[in-house]
Amino acid sequence: MESGNKVCLITGASSGIGYAIAKALNRSGYQLILSARREEKLNELRSEFADILPGDLNSAAYQDYLEDHIYKKYGKCDYLFNCAGTLEVGSIEDTNIDKMTAMIRLNIESTFRLTFKMLKRFKNQGFGHVINISSVLGTKVRSNAGAYAATKFAMEALSEALRMELTGTNIQISCIEPGLVMTELHDNWQVHPKHSMNIHEPLNVSDIVNAVLYIMKQPSHVRIPKLMILPKDHNI
Ligand SMILES: NC(=O)c1ccc[n+]([C@@H]2O[C@H](COP(=O)([O-])OP(=O)(O)OC[C@H]3O[C@@H](n4cnc5c(N)ncnc54)[C@H](OP(=O)(O)O)[C@@H]3O)[C@@H](O)[C@H]2O)c1
Repeated sequence: MESGNKVCLITGASSGIGYAIAKALNRSGYQLILSARREEKLNELRSEFADILPGDLNSAAYQDYLEDHIYKKYGKCDYLFNCAGTLEVGSIEDTNIDKMTAMIRLNIESTFRLTFKMLKRFKNQGFGHVINISSVLGTKVRSNAGAYAATKFAMEALSEALRMELTGTNIQISCIEPGLVMTELHDNWQVHPKHSMNIHEPLNVSDIVNAVLYIMKQPSHVRIPKLMILPKDHNI
């Protein structure tokens, strides 16, 4: 895997999977543009090779700012990592409709907006790779998690259509489909899913980083559109 002057935009870089990817690539000498709302968390990753650009991905103006910054400063972007996302689940009675629709906005609308913006650039420059953090719930549903699964099904559907559209080009799109990973995503749950799902050893962010690095080190004729990663106790 060549890191030499490769430029990477990573959303959701302030915690969990995005933070771990940023940390790993920072160590390997990539040029990073790190996005999330919490500047103080992004600042932990600040370095000569990491530009910190805090903001809310739901803002179209912020997305324009990210794009302008990258293309004015570096003139290209090699990777877009779509890691920003939220998770709202619950029964009909318990679902917070405002939080659910905010999730749909971020996971679908804002992620699709950024993906298309960057793909237009990738088409102009003739190369690029979008790596989406989807979910095992982008391939199957679970009771009480239909809206979240729908956002990940949407990501998978778009990615598959884009893969077809981009056939034969040097532009790639990959979806990583993790099962349960220990991050902040479930911090406010009354019962953590590792207990309700009986998963004794959930995935760590490093397991997802390993999958990312595996995808990135493939030779140029290889495509990995999907990669599912599950903890060994995952039984549904
Ligand atoms: N953890 C799991 O078990 C698991 C499993 C499968 C898939 N995934 C997927 O993996 C992705 C990353 O999740 P994670 O587990 O790493 O969760 P996390 O630790 O909660 O990270 C979520 C990231 O999204 C950012 N974010 C949220 N709202 C944002 C907004 N409006 N604008 C910009 N950034 C925003 C957060 O940063 P700020 O709060 O600083 O903005 C944070 O950096 C998500 O798409 C999730 O669906 C996670």
